[in-house]
Amino acid sequence: MKDVAILELPKIKDLRGNLSFFENENQIPFEIKRSYWIYDVPGGEFRGSHAFKKSKEFIVALSGSFDVVLHDGNQEKRFQLNRAYLGLYVPNMLWRSLDNFSTNSVALIVSSINYNEADYIRGFQEFKTLKNET
Ligand code: TYD
Repeated sequence: MKDVAILELPKIKDLRGNLSFFENENQIPFEIKRSYWIYDVPGGEFRGSHAFKKSKEFIVALSGSFDVVLHDGNQEKRFQLNRAYLGLYVPNMLWRSLDNFSTNSVALIVSSINYNEADYIRGFQEFKTLKNET
């Protein structure tokens, strides 16, 4: 799947606890405009079944684990995130869902744009049509 990648972040090991980080355009391939996080997800729930026209995202399981399911219009790929030093880079124009959340998991997501409902594609058929036009 084009440009999608699990990126390994720096991990500063310390007996006092480990530390990882990323910053603008350094560990991740875009400028960060927004951060949000998903937490307290009830068992069996899923989030984010949509695509973004412009927003690129970087997703980290800060705690626990969950899956990110991506679809490029042709094929689907499932990525399990379960380490706080790994993140998934998701380019724009990919259908994406988050599911399989473990208890107390926290998904940190940073985006390349400010929140804008107009950037969402919420219908899978619409997504496929737009994808075929690009
Ligand atoms: P949404 O992205 O639809 O959630 P999910 O895709 O995970 O199911 O967002 C849910 C609500 O939260 C929606 O009403 C818009 C609001 N929201 C913001 O106000 N700012 C944000 O940065 C995000 C991601 C959502």
